[in-house]
Amino acid sequence: MSLSLMAFGSVQSANPIVPGETWNDTRGARINAHGCCVVKHDGAYYWFGENRSGMTSMGVSCYRSTDFYSWENLGLAFKTSQALDPETGKGTLERPKVIYNDKTGKWVMYIHWEDGTGYGKARVCVATADNIEGPYEFSSTFRPNDHDSRDQTVFKDTDGKAYHFGSTDMNTNMNVALLSEDYLTTEQNPVTETKILLGLQYEAPAIFKVGDIYYGLFSGCTGWNPNPGHSAWSTEIMGTWNTGENFTVDNEKSTTYRSQSTYVLKLDGHDNAYVYMGDRWNSSNVETSTYVWLPLSMRSGYPVVKWLDRWDLSVFDDADRFKRPAEIVSGETYYFIEANSDRFMSLSNNQICLKNDNEAENMQLRFVAVEGKQYTYKMQEVTSGKYLEDLFGKTLRLSAESDSESQQWYLKQNEDGTYRVCGVTSGNCLTVSGSSTSEGVALYLTEPDDEKFQKFGVYFDTYARPDEAVADMFSAEYRAANRQIMADQEEYEAGLSSVGLVAAGSGMNISSTGDGMVIVDAAGVDGMVSVNVFEAASGRSVCSETFPGGESSQVDLGNCVAPGVYVVVATASTGSAVEKVIIR
Ligand code: GAL
Repeated sequence: MSLSLMAFGSVQSANPIVPGETWNDTRGARINAHGCCVVKHDGAYYWFGENRSGMTSMGVSCYRSTDFYSWENLGLAFKTSQALDPETGKGTLERPKVIYNDKTGKWVMYIHWEDGTGYGKARVCVATADNIEGPYEFSSTFRPNDHDSRDQTVFKDTDGKAYHFGSTDMNTNMNVALLSEDYLTTEQNPVTETKILLGLQYEAPAIFKVGDIYYGLFSGCTGWNPNPGHSAWSTEIMGTWNTGENFTVDNEKSTTYRSQSTYVLKLDGHDNAYVYMGDRWNSSNVETSTYVWLPLSMRSGYPVVKWLDRWDLSVFDDADRFKRPAEIVSGETYYFIEANSDRFMSLSNNQICLKNDNEAENMQLRFVAVEGKQYTYKMQEVTSGKYLEDLFGKTLRLSAESDSESQQWYLKQNEDGTYRVCGVTSGNCLTVSGSSTSEGVALYLTEPDDEKFQKFGVYFDTYARPDEAVADMFSAEYRAANRQIMADQEEYEAGLSSVGLVAAGSGMNISSTGDGMVIVDAAGVDGMVSVNVFEAASGRSVCSETFPGGESSQVDLGNCVAPGVYVVVATASTGSAVEKVIIR
């Protein structure tokens, strides 16, 4: 009994953050601070959030912590009773966000304000304090530049300007409004605002900046119910925002791990240490809603939040280990990280797939520039000594070195510094199976014009090569340099005689019935046809057969393979036909 209690106690203290579970304060009471923000000040963290009694809004709680795990309740920093509607005599305060104004020396709190009867007022409430923990004094309520404003946040930029982000036009668009110098209202001389993410119905904004790039996390518009999270980014806060992927990548990503975003906090001490903060709302008793806090990685250039059952700040210990090199040096070793999942190209059970950080499986590749070609490398897997090979434009495998161009890979530059990794013989590029980037998903090749999930960044191990120059991947200069490379590549490609041509005109056609039968139509072909079947994930040859041309032949794969994905290659004197088939 005492032994198991001790064991449990030690696990708890090692991993004190348990997403989605009730979190108690230092006095053992449930933390009541929803739709939060967390602000670091003078060595301590301050957690502000909605204090609810059941559904009733009581005000804005403030909790303080020096270790990020144990939170002391400092009471209500601002009370709903300080902001009652004169007609209803009630009020509701949601999603409080606190920023510091360097000019006035005041802490300024922006809150979504309603009159306690519903969501029709759609205003913000502003309150200010001399000390971060409050008490905050009521300043005003208003609609930012007369726009209805529901889910909201404020973002203070590195130049001291601050912006209000609010869901507007009945939650259809996101309005970004520059605040006045004192942050107490929106700037009026002149009004400076823009609507972004038009028509997308984004809510629950959480805005942060990395280098020169602004990032936003959002939820969809389904009330208290969770939905797939969204990300967006822009190089100009008032410019066009680009939509990105769902920032959650594991089981339950369709509900953002049953949460809605509210804040992203950058932690000190590491480049790549961010915390995603979301609410798992209980719509019948908001007071008991729980908090989903998880590490957020920006390593791939995009926000990625993986699920952890429980964690502590040591998860960030190696957060800065793998970085993008300032340039690829022939002969050096690198890793590929997929941009939308932050997962490594890995080798697991003979399959080339995506995996979380894991030294045993993440593939370390020695890049060797191909002589006489640009942007083109052979990639030797360090442990096996084998080379990454393009298998008929459908999949990839590791093989002993050969002179074949199928072991040459063209790195096609993207503006964000990632690449499409394309086989020289086929022109086809690395992708994932389906649209999943979950742990263990197999990698394949797909047509170069397929825009989805083809972005891989090149990384090196800074622990092994601490002195190697790192790319400043969030800078405007980096993007500009990459645009130049893209232009150079276009010229280079135009000058090439043949890129990306799969042998065409073999006169054969491969189709599949899905239940194991593959039909090779070789009616127009003379001589023998040989059919070879490869397991797509590993490139392993699994069966082969020959038959005379001039007819259509059925090959029963059910005899030689288990359900899965295969590459079927039919070769005749006229050339080869290749098809990816799925056996169910
Ligand atoms: C959610 C929002 C919550 C609350 C709720 C009311 O979309 O994130 O803060 O306003 O709607 O239905």
